[in-house]
Amino acid sequence: MSINKLVIVGFGLIGASLAAGLRRAHYCREIIAIARSENTLEKALELGLADRAFHALSDIAQELDDGDVICISVPTLSTKAVLEDVASQVSDKVVVTDCASVKGSVRDAARDVFGEIPKQLVLGHPIAGSEQSGVTAANPDLYQQHRVILTPVESTAAESVECIKCMWQAVGAEVLTMSVEEHDEVLAATSHLPHVIAYSLVDTLAHDSENENIFRYAAGGFKDFTRIASSDPTMWHDIMLSNKDSVLSALSLFENNLKQLRIAIENEDSDYLLGVFTRSKAARDHFVSRLGKKALMKHQSNDVTYVVQPGGRVSGELRVPGDKSISHRSIMLGSIADGITEVSGFLEGEDALATLQAFRDMGVVIEGPNDGNVKVHGVGLHGLQAPPGPLYLGNSGTSMRLLAGLLAGQSFDVVLTGDESLSKRPMTRVSNPLSQMGANISTADKGCPPITITGGAKLKAIDYSLPMASAQVKSSVLLAGLYADGETSVTEPAVTRDHTERMLRGFGYDVITEGDTMRLVGGGTLKGTAIEVPADISSATFFMVAAAISPGSEVILKHVGINPTRIGVINILRLMGADIGFLNKTEVGGEPVADLRVRYAPLIGIDIPKELVPLAIDEFPAIFVAAACAQGVTRLTGAEELRVKESDRIQVMADGLQALGVKATATPDGMVIEGSEITGGEVDSHGDHRIAMSFTVAALRSSGPITIKDCANVATSFPDFSSLATKAGISIEEITS
Ligand code: S3P
Repeated sequence: MSINKLVIVGFGLIGASLAAGLRRAHYCREIIAIARSENTLEKALELGLADRAFHALSDIAQELDDGDVICISVPTLSTKAVLEDVASQVSDKVVVTDCASVKGSVRDAARDVFGEIPKQLVLGHPIAGSEQSGVTAANPDLYQQHRVILTPVESTAAESVECIKCMWQAVGAEVLTMSVEEHDEVLAATSHLPHVIAYSLVDTLAHDSENENIFRYAAGGFKDFTRIASSDPTMWHDIMLSNKDSVLSALSLFENNLKQLRIAIENEDSDYLLGVFTRSKAARDHFVSRLGKKALMKHQSNDVTYVVQPGGRVSGELRVPGDKSISHRSIMLGSIADGITEVSGFLEGEDALATLQAFRDMGVVIEGPNDGNVKVHGVGLHGLQAPPGPLYLGNSGTSMRLLAGLLAGQSFDVVLTGDESLSKRPMTRVSNPLSQMGANISTADKGCPPITITGGAKLKAIDYSLPMASAQVKSSVLLAGLYADGETSVTEPAVTRDHTERMLRGFGYDVITEGDTMRLVGGGTLKGTAIEVPADISSATFFMVAAAISPGSEVILKHVGINPTRIGVINILRLMGADIGFLNKTEVGGEPVADLRVRYAPLIGIDIPKELVPLAIDEFPAIFVAAACAQGVTRLTGAEELRVKESDRIQVMADGLQALGVKATATPDGMVIEGSEITGGEVDSHGDHRIAMSFTVAALRSSGPITIKDCANVATSFPDFSSLATKAGISIEEITS
């Protein structure tokens, strides 16, 4: 779609840059500039940004018809006068849009003028700008990779919205739609408030006579912080008045925060200051890395696809990132300990970072992570504070279930939320025992997140028999037990990972393990300690399987945690004939570690022993790939838990294997896989990190390339997977869109 005549009313930076971008894209047959200033009109013609130029819309209004567009880019409070001209002089076949930074006031003005919002009027706001203003600052790239928000109302015609959307896309913008109210609130917080503060700061300093030298000595921070105070004063005057209510509420929040900071400085309250500064730094770093150059602070995750070339082998010494389960627990226990906990080898993946952010939100000062080093300033068992809003835990089931237990006995209310996958996972497995302990805890529909906990409950100890083999549920109940009166015990139906028990002991807390039962008495204290996180055996698994299935391979995987409750995968692969050896066995912080040497050896199909299932629960996607490369049939039973992981790992893996020509049959509690030739093809990981990495490894034995969709979540557990895989010898290309 393109535009016949585009009339731009107001030819400042915003309007003139739109003209420049559309001109370059040859998107309009004619561009007509309307501005009051003679100088602006002359410049618009001289710079070739407009074909014709007029002082008033009335000079051209009669000419306009179907296929023409008017874009109003005057200061917000002047928009109404232009709308009056439009209403009285322009055909309703002409699509009209605006660029004002506040949408509520323009919508109300349009209602006053037209009676109701006409179908051809599309309210919009390009989120782009510059401290320069005027037609001479016109920049055809101003909107490239910036966002434009359209706020259509019920009466707006879909084709009018489409017309304006295409216009902005033609200048490289990403167009999204939201309600007028949401737009004004979001912009008040992310744009209008920072401008008020920047103007106020410069004004304060510039007019303080004692600070007359300020500009001479102004350092980088001042310059960076105040850049936006050079923006167009009229425009910002109008914005503040038009979005008064939302700006005032954002300002109140800020004033309150500033007041607290003032008190903290007065009282030399280092904890408070460090807390605010580390939380802000983490949030700012997160925004910067997430958003790149995008202008609006809203999280949008990228689509990542892996394309893996067939064949090859793996070799070399590799160190995979830190153990996810232990990383989570180091932050949780470090936060509720007395004193400082120094963690090294921490996994800087999204799941563990979600836990870290949650504790920052509850007032814990956490420095880092820097290169895997984290320093947690523990606040003691009762030192956590109410978070400012729901705790968002991303994709991480471990964060949600363990936090549910740890927070069940706090004095404050809390809501735990997560992403689309986590929001479908069962949570009654923790809410049931926690309710029995006296917690006020509830889940949403069907027992799924969000989890809501009302604070102030007095917890009582229980003896709990786990209905399923789950380390997360065991840990959740034990963590709640720290806050309960008396001795809490948990009995598990099969051995599950015991990192919680080991780490509690490392923090000086007594936990007794007797057979299949764990016990602890509430009300003790944890003492800050040092924690060295070993490399994650679950991440190492992908390279173990890679070496086991590709002839000529040999890898050494350094410093991998080989806790007996986690080595199910090694035992299963060995039963299949894999050549895996332990070198340099040692122990760090209560966890056994070793270097693993894995060499290629032909694999055979087996019936996987049931007792090994919980000990290899996260490794089955990769084990299924090994089974596809083995001679004969591999059968897994007793693994129904796989259906409620980050995805339904039985179904998603069966579908993917079948797409690659493998004879795989899903059963209710496992899978039957016949060793077969793996063809190339396309598989969907359904956003499951471990499935994405497993199919990557499968390409070593496939006859054609494998394309794996929806791989962004690999970052939850293994942020540098594709570079390490490349280093090892896998030919993987990561495509981000
Ligand atoms: C984990 C326990 C396991 C595992 C998960 C991490 C933990 O879940 O699948 O990735 O850190 O306690 P379940 O306990 O639900 O089996």
